[in-house]
Amino acid sequence: MKRFRESYLKKLHIGSLTTESNVFMAPLAGYTGYPFRVMCRKLGAGLCFTEMVSANGLKYNDLATAKLLYTDAAESPKAVQLLGCVPSAFEYACKGSYTADYAVVDINMGCPVPNIIKNGEGCALTGNLPLAARIIEACKRSGKVVTVKCRPGMNPDKIVITEFARMCEDSGADMITVHGRTRNMMYDGEPVYEYIAAAKRAVHIPVIANGGICSEEDAVRMMENTGADGVMLARYGLENPLIFAQLTGRETGDTKLSLLMEQADLAESCFDELAAMDYIKKLASYFMKRMPGTKSGRQAMYQCGNMQGLRAILVQAFAETEA
Ligand SMILES: Cc1cc2nc3c(=O)[nH]c(=O)nc-3n(C[C@H](O)[C@H](O)[C@H](O)COP(=O)(O)O)c2cc1C
Repeated sequence: MKRFRESYLKKLHIGSLTTESNVFMAPLAGYTGYPFRVMCRKLGAGLCFTEMVSANGLKYNDLATAKLLYTDAAESPKAVQLLGCVPSAFEYACKGSYTADYAVVDINMGCPVPNIIKNGEGCALTGNLPLAARIIEACKRSGKVVTVKCRPGMNPDKIVITEFARMCEDSGADMITVHGRTRNMMYDGEPVYEYIAAAKRAVHIPVIANGGICSEEDAVRMMENTGADGVMLARYGLENPLIFAQLTGRETGDTKLSLLMEQADLAESCFDELAAMDYIKKLASYFMKRMPGTKSGRQAMYQCGNMQGLRAILVQAFAETEA
């Protein structure tokens, strides 16, 4: 098998930023908080994005929204993803204090969720190129590196990826990530390589390929078939973050269990106990996916009400499978 690190691994120039690798971790609502991002960076991911954060929420000083932006010195570079459809709200969010630490702003133009689409946000912006352009220009006025994450269009009859990618570049975007599924596919089915390849042919800025990468083989196939400049992992990055070390050739003695214990420490240091437990349970549950013999561990985990007990349950569940 072709190795990603031998054939495709490289640093990437994105505007004024150079990333250590071209393997990125996607924004994932409910998961890609500070602890998770720090772990992926340690394992070789070149960029890791916050979950989508409402530009309007920041404009109106919504505290729950601002909390999603927690970060610390251990994270570098920092990349935030914003969601919305009002250019002035994006400009305010990019220039304001909440995002001051973040060098990169990614604009969500791919979210398929009905409420978001109804508001004209997320993937709906692939159907409104003039507004999408004004949002990118508004973000660029902050001087930050600006990237866009999008889908090829709303459905197979509305594929706009070529003109959309050109619009992004013309409006000043420094990189685009294409999730190769149309909005009607939501998160299921095979991503279409050709949509990503079309974006790559249309622009000179880096194009990152996303969707359905669950192994090194998938990552290699994605690069081969799209000509993309890098890959972005999403759900599989949650299931097995060690994939970042595998793709980038980073030496690590880590196991899933050691990563979980480290995540528990980090989560406790920056979240309250309830939030830390909630996060560790969700993460451990992803880690256990496709791991046989973890049913009882999973049940015990969900019934557990304190961090110390949770740690003990995880040690037992993973020690058995990782022995
Ligand atoms: C639970 C969950 C949360 C997500 N949250 C976001 C988000 O906040 N912003 C975003 O751009 N995409 C979000 N996505 C989409 C992913 O970033 C990614 O594009 C998608 O899962 C396809 O990649 P995959 O097939 O490798 O998982 C989310 C997906 C899932 C499953």
